[in-house]
Amino acid sequence: MNRLQGATALITGGARGLGAQIARRFAEEGARVVVNDLNLDAAEACAEELGGTAIGCDVSDSQAVHEMFELVASSEGRLDILVNNAGISGMEGDDSAQERFREMMEQGASEQAGARPPILDVADVHWQRMFDVHMNGTFYCSREAVRIMCNLGLSDSGGRIINMGSIMGTFGRNGGTAYCSAKAAILGFTRSLAHELAPANIRVNAIAPGFIYTDMTKPFEAMHPQLEAQTPMGRLGDPDDIAWAAVYLASDEAKFMTGQTVSPNGGWYMSQ
Ligand SMILES: NC(=O)c1ccc[n+]([C@@H]2O[C@H](COP(=O)([O-])OP(=O)(O)OC[C@H]3O[C@@H](n4cnc5c(N)ncnc54)[C@H](O)[C@@H]3O)[C@@H](O)[C@H]2O)c1
Repeated sequence: MNRLQGATALITGGARGLGAQIARRFAEEGARVVVNDLNLDAAEACAEELGGTAIGCDVSDSQAVHEMFELVASSEGRLDILVNNAGISGMEGDDSAQERFREMMEQGASEQAGARPPILDVADVHWQRMFDVHMNGTFYCSREAVRIMCNLGLSDSGGRIINMGSIMGTFGRNGGTAYCSAKAAILGFTRSLAHELAPANIRVNAIAPGFIYTDMTKPFEAMHPQLEAQTPMGRLGDPDDIAWAAVYLASDEAKFMTGQTVSPNGGWYMSQ
């Protein structure tokens, strides 16, 4: 308890799933939370529960992000922690894409031989949206956060930026060129920014979750037994498995950690 006392944290995509659980644990640890999401009503409900505030904004919109951080600077007077969590699977609301993905995951290499390469069906608009939300959103929010952290000053704990990667940022999967590339870009960005910001007392780290049960992975429930069987720890993760990693990276316990990727994934993938 109180590991984040006195800190103000902004969590993007914080209305549900991993972001909401991170906001919950941060608030329990004494942080004041600002919950961002595209879905303002859900963000407000989450913020209200935690005694924080909500801001509706699309992180892929540079001007909207600038205005969101201006609002944080004027209303909060400080920003200590940014969690770049907002993300998409790219298959939201698209039943046929979800079905194709399930089929691909279930097929062995021999069944995939001769199949049409999935990249042929990746539309420009799909590719761009994936990078807009994940990579551009992470860049826009980080740039604005650093401006506030440098202008308004930081406590001895310094500034902390936590970027949401994925095991898919290093593990390639069939049909996942856009998502895997966007997450890989975030991991590279994390390392480079960590170098830049160490002299400014701002730590930058990433979390690369394995398969976690949230609304994002719910459409693939039929595959969960298969994923559980492949996972040495025998289960999918739950949002708290990620939230506690975020609390650690945000706390002084991680004061010598920067440029790192922490990967709670039950042992499904051991090569981060
Ligand atoms: N669930 C998993 O298994 C898993 C695994 C690895 C990585 N991740 C990553 O973790 C993050 C959170 O995933 P989740 O499972 O909680 O997903 P989720 O779909 O449950 O929640 C994502 C939230 O982000 C918001 N959002 C989406 N686009 C946005 C935008 N442009 N601007 C602001 N908010 C936006 C959504 O409205 C939603 O509330 C994502 O970056 C995801 O890629 C998830």
